[in-house]
Amino acid sequence: MSETQRAAAEPTARKRLFIKTYGCQMNVYDSERMRDLLTPLGYEPADAPDGADLVILNTCHIREKAAEKVYSELGRLKPLKEAKAASGDPMTIAVAGCVAQAEGAEIQRRAPVVDLVVGPQTYHKLPELIASVHRGRGEGLETEFEVEEKFDRLAAPVRQVEGYSAFVTVQEGCDKFCSFCVVPYTRGAEWSRPVDQVVAEVRALAARGVREVTLLGQNVNAYHGEPPAGDAADGTWGLGRLVRHLALIDGIERIRFTTSHPKDMDDDLIAAFADEPKLMPYFHLPVQAGSDRILKAMNRKHTAAEYLDIIARLREARPDIAISGDMIVGFPGETEADFEATMALVREVEYASCFSFKYSRRPGTPGAALPGQVDEAVKSERLARLQALLGEQQEAFNASMVGRTLPVLFEKPGRHAGQLSGRSPYLQAVHCEAPEALIGTIADVEIVSASRNALAGRLKDGESRAA
Ligand code: 5AD
Ligand code: SF4
Repeated sequence: MSETQRAAAEPTARKRLFIKTYGCQMNVYDSERMRDLLTPLGYEPADAPDGADLVILNTCHIREKAAEKVYSELGRLKPLKEAKAASGDPMTIAVAGCVAQAEGAEIQRRAPVVDLVVGPQTYHKLPELIASVHRGRGEGLETEFEVEEKFDRLAAPVRQVEGYSAFVTVQEGCDKFCSFCVVPYTRGAEWSRPVDQVVAEVRALAARGVREVTLLGQNVNAYHGEPPAGDAADGTWGLGRLVRHLALIDGIERIRFTTSHPKDMDDDLIAAFADEPKLMPYFHLPVQAGSDRILKAMNRKHTAAEYLDIIARLREARPDIAISGDMIVGFPGETEADFEATMALVREVEYASCFSFKYSRRPGTPGAALPGQVDEAVKSERLARLQALLGEQQEAFNASMVGRTLPVLFEKPGRHAGQLSGRSPYLQAVHCEAPEALIGTIADVEIVSASRNALAGRLKDGESRAA
């Protein structure tokens, strides 16, 4: 992500939350859970709906005419909402509970004063739903917590811009709302840069000698940029089309992108790995967990089988593609069996490289309010097992390169005199004795040895070539 990150959300002025609970103990319990979920977003309980920023009617369907009672309560709320709007401050009205479940969108049709309807199965999505209402009104989402340091940075490039390899932001923000993640709150809604802007930047980089560009975005494969001026009006461009277009720019030999979400995979992007030689055979596609139960609790919006299917299709398009990912262990509720499902998925995928993390409770995210938080010692033990397996896979992947000849983009002098350091198409670091004049060019290197973190090789002929 660009260094000029969006400013951190300042701690907000306190917001007032009024919840009216109808019916049974279950609803009383649910109302408390909703209050807990919303507290980190700056909401404090209010005794009355007057002047409240958020009003939730947690309804009950058990008695006759329950829905009618809700509609008449909404009628009473209408003037309060109008009065608040007149003072320049919106009131958000939500209907939750069994009436919401039973009547669904009908409520909003009959009572437009309602901003959102949320059924009992989806309370964990309340922060996400409220965020979309606020965005719909053009308001930013303010959160009480500091901008994420660690994971926000992890979502940012690991490598710094070097002379011949550059990062280009094409997309920012995220609408996915994985329940462990702060990015949708700190970085805001998903947004794509227009194609013309990206092209201009990549052309300028190519003119400065850049040979490789990595297209960046928190949800880069959700890219849907405004088409170039003069393009027949056929809607926005996806990432596959952008990649093919950038490949036409003279001087650009290699294209990569990161980070993608399984839900945003499309056939065109997969096909680009088969038919666009400048698109490097390396794909960072986080899955986070291998258990469908945990994926659901994470609000990942895909199953393990769907993820594996994408990997299979990518391998069909480009058999040598290196797969990379992100994993979280110890998400709330993760059992030993769930963790074993993660291990099984990793065994099936065979990652070339993969980041792995212990779940860390981020205030303000739905995951933080979930029951079944996993003990630190259990998380550490699972992480160690996972990392041992991932380490073996990375080592095996690197070892499989020995004896092969790979085109290496030399980027800088190596650690030892006379050595250069570069990258293979699979993003492996490659060290090789070579003249400094080859920096900024791509040359064939025969790989002679491999370790977990790097390859060492011999220059084939000293000639530079295209990828
Ligand atoms: N706990 C652990 N890992 C996290 N990530 C994001 N949020 C959390 C969290 N709360 C990891 C995910 C993501 C990567 C950038 O950081 O794996 O893909
Ligand atoms: Fe966070 Fe999920 Fe969006 Fe990635 S896709 S930035 S993990 S919310």
